Amino acid sequence: MTDASALPQPQDVTRPLTRSAAFLVLTINDGEEAMRTARSVVAGTGDLIKDVRIRATHGSFSCNVGIGHRVWDALTRKPAPRELAAFTEVKGAQHVAVATPGDLLFHLRADSMDLIVEFEKLLLEAFGDAVTAVDDVAGFRYFDTRDMLEFVDGTANAIGTDALHDTIVGQEDPAHAGGSYVITQKYLHDLGSWRSQPTQVQEAVIGRTKFDNVELPDAEADQQKAHKTLCTVTDADGEHDILRDNMPFATPGKGEYGTFFIGYSRHLWVMQEMLQRMFVGAPPPLHDRILDYSTAVTGCTFFVPSLPFLAGLDG
Ligand code: HEM
Repeated sequence: MTDASALPQPQDVTRPLTRSAAFLVLTINDGEEAMRTARSVVAGTGDLIKDVRIRATHGSFSCNVGIGHRVWDALTRKPAPRELAAFTEVKGAQHVAVATPGDLLFHLRADSMDLIVEFEKLLLEAFGDAVTAVDDVAGFRYFDTRDMLEFVDGTANAIGTDALHDTIVGQEDPAHAGGSYVITQKYLHDLGSWRSQPTQVQEAVIGRTKFDNVELPDAEADQQKAHKTLCTVTDADGEHDILRDNMPFATPGKGEYGTFFIGYSRHLWVMQEMLQRMFVGAPPPLHDRILDYSTAVTGCTFFVPSLPFLAGLDG
């Protein structure tokens, strides 16, 4: 078990679910000047969070900053976390987890969108022309924590000290203790096709009942497995859990309905293994049937360093 008091203070990784969120993904433009500006803004994020949080007369506000592999060395001028690598495409027989650009991730959570929009506005003003926004997704809480496939999403997440143990790097990588690996993927759903499936078929795809969210038994070893079983990764040390804060997003006028997947983990390989099992199948070619109704249109990996690491970047 991670002794949280012995670690540099993590960012707000394990905070409880909020009603709203945004996922802002940026690339840093070429040139030393752009890198210098980016470094200074990233190092000052803690102050900007305080500027906005104090104005929250209702609910809460938090922001986690992630740094991607491509810019790690130039931005931080420090050795990279042991497992940090660019997101690698995962190609199954029918579905592909695509890799897309992303140097910085801002994962914003609040109980209302005004705080999120205010923070993004101030942040992007500070970056000026040092960055390019490549994605910006606003997520909302959909009824009783359901995703756009109408299933309750987030149930198996650990809470409290278990969540810290699952998500925060410990003494296995001392220079990066207090940090966390993140994978993000934006999925678009074919809701027409999903909704034409009987509830029982949908429940077999997910591995839980739809109305009351009860877990269904796992399939036999060589049979088609449900999403929840394909995303269960075990080894000699037991089961490796991650923390997800998926958010539904939608633009009904454009027929766009999706899930923004975000996973935090102490070990990057755990999430990479989940993606292998989903896209390639376990056993191959029995891929996750959630993918027959959901297309991954982005895929990025980041490291969310501890708060002292971030604040020390501008020194
Ligand atoms: C279309 C995108 C996705 C949707 C709609 C989705 C939805 C769900 C739902 C409804 C559950 C069951 C309830 C729960 O425990 O939260 C679940 C479980 C889970 N999902 Fe996903 N998910 C998606 C993508 C992913 C991806 C890409 C990963 C990992 C790389 C992942 C990892 C997990 C894990 C670890 C569990 C818990 C398994 C367990 O019961 O131990 N999911 N997901």
